[in-house]
Amino acid sequence: MSILATSSPSIVERIKTRQASIGVIGLGYVGLPLAVEFARAGFEVTGFDIDEAKNARINEGSSHIPDVPDDELAAVVNSGKLRATSDVGCLGAMDVVDICVPTPLRKTKDPDLSYVIKAVEAVAATLRPGQLVILESTTYPGTTDEVVQPALEAGGLRAERDFFLAFSPERVDPGNARFTTKNIPKVVGGVGPASVEAASALYGSVVSNVVPVSSTQVAEMVKLLENTFRAVNIGLVNEIALMCRRMDINVWEVIEAAKTKPFGFMPFYPGPGLGGHCIPIDPFYLSWKARQTGFECRFIELAGQINSSMPHYVVERVADALNSVKKPINGSRVHLFGVAYKKDVGDVRESPALDILELLAKRGAVVSYTDPYVPTLELGGHALASIPFEAAMSSHCDCAIVSTDHGVFDYARIAATGLIVDTRDAIKTKGPNVFSI
Ligand SMILES: NC(=O)c1ccc[n+]([C@@H]2O[C@H](COP(=O)([O-])OP(=O)(O)OC[C@H]3O[C@@H](n4cnc5c(N)ncnc54)[C@H](O)[C@@H]3O)[C@@H](O)[C@H]2O)c1
Repeated sequence: MSILATSSPSIVERIKTRQASIGVIGLGYVGLPLAVEFARAGFEVTGFDIDEAKNARINEGSSHIPDVPDDELAAVVNSGKLRATSDVGCLGAMDVVDICVPTPLRKTKDPDLSYVIKAVEAVAATLRPGQLVILESTTYPGTTDEVVQPALEAGGLRAERDFFLAFSPERVDPGNARFTTKNIPKVVGGVGPASVEAASALYGSVVSNVVPVSSTQVAEMVKLLENTFRAVNIGLVNEIALMCRRMDINVWEVIEAAKTKPFGFMPFYPGPGLGGHCIPIDPFYLSWKARQTGFECRFIELAGQINSSMPHYVVERVADALNSVKKPINGSRVHLFGVAYKKDVGDVRESPALDILELLAKRGAVVSYTDPYVPTLELGGHALASIPFEAAMSSHCDCAIVSTDHGVFDYARIAATGLIVDTRDAIKTKGPNVFSI
């Protein structure tokens, strides 16, 4: 009899009775909220991160992720339900191991699976019968069974027979108070039925709706479809915005009216370009994998071209604005309001504001920024510090850019400062000094 045949009911039972111990590898935007949710549901959770400073902070109950309030984190840390460590030697003691490490792109836009491989090697080193291993990191279809499974099976144990292996994409939307880990449905694919059952039992204990699918490849593809859908539709609306500018039509007004259609239309908004760890990156995981089969993803490439041209377009709008008062970019003071990639978060990964700052600096502008969520950032090897909002209001700049529409900014006051390029339609009363994209 296989080990699974005897241990299968036991892992599901251990999950149902909250006896299962859970390890979460990678305590970032995805891993920490998930670890806290498991701990709140009554599991004993160990978070594994290579960043010792992050672990120390978590163990003090202090959160580095805005969606995880300090009091919620402190409650599970103080009750002994959650601790963080870098000691991967303890992974073998876990009943469940959930991998939430980064999946970036290389400079060539090829997938960089090095973090996943390192984490999987750590799991493989202490893998034991009956464990449930889940990959949550976004990746191309085939990663779980072509990369993770062989690495885990190298020691002789077999997935579905000796241990369980599943993929479940993470859909968390940082900064979204309405949809959080708990009420976002969770898609689960396993390398076989026992793995889906075990992973579904796990997620069923913390999320309101689990959606099992027939394979890990389907689950991997679901996430890439969702993010490609966004990237392509943002690319489309950015192109419509460029078109509307030529025709002197207000694209924002067009979208507001179009979205009154109660069916068959979903609003997407133009902006300074894509940012964050998902939308600018994930579709290239898909196009890379498709290329291995000789298939070219034309929509993904085209959307990528349009979206990555947007920071250049914003700089052209700055040139238009300055030109209207007979000033060049070279030597002008240009101030950005918001550098995070989206509203009300402090994440600058892939943020188009960084490109805008760099492009403007290259053309001789003297750049500065205000972002209460991003105290400092690095630009061309130099540190740049955020100027507090009041100080920015009282200092002169030749042109300001609304690059992120943080809720805390007073847009009426920003509009009164002079020339503005508004990339987010944040300024509602548009005088001749306000240049939309
Ligand atoms: N951020 C999002 O909004 C989001 C949403 C859905 C899916 N995802 C996906 O989830 C995955 C994780 O993203 P994230 O935003 O949480 O990343 P993150 O950078 O915020 O966190 C990743 C963490 O993993 C740690 N880490 C890296 N290698 C490790 C290792 N070998 N062992 C232990 N810890 C390690 C890092 O120190 C970091 O704390 C990615 O695949 C991403 O595409 C992210």
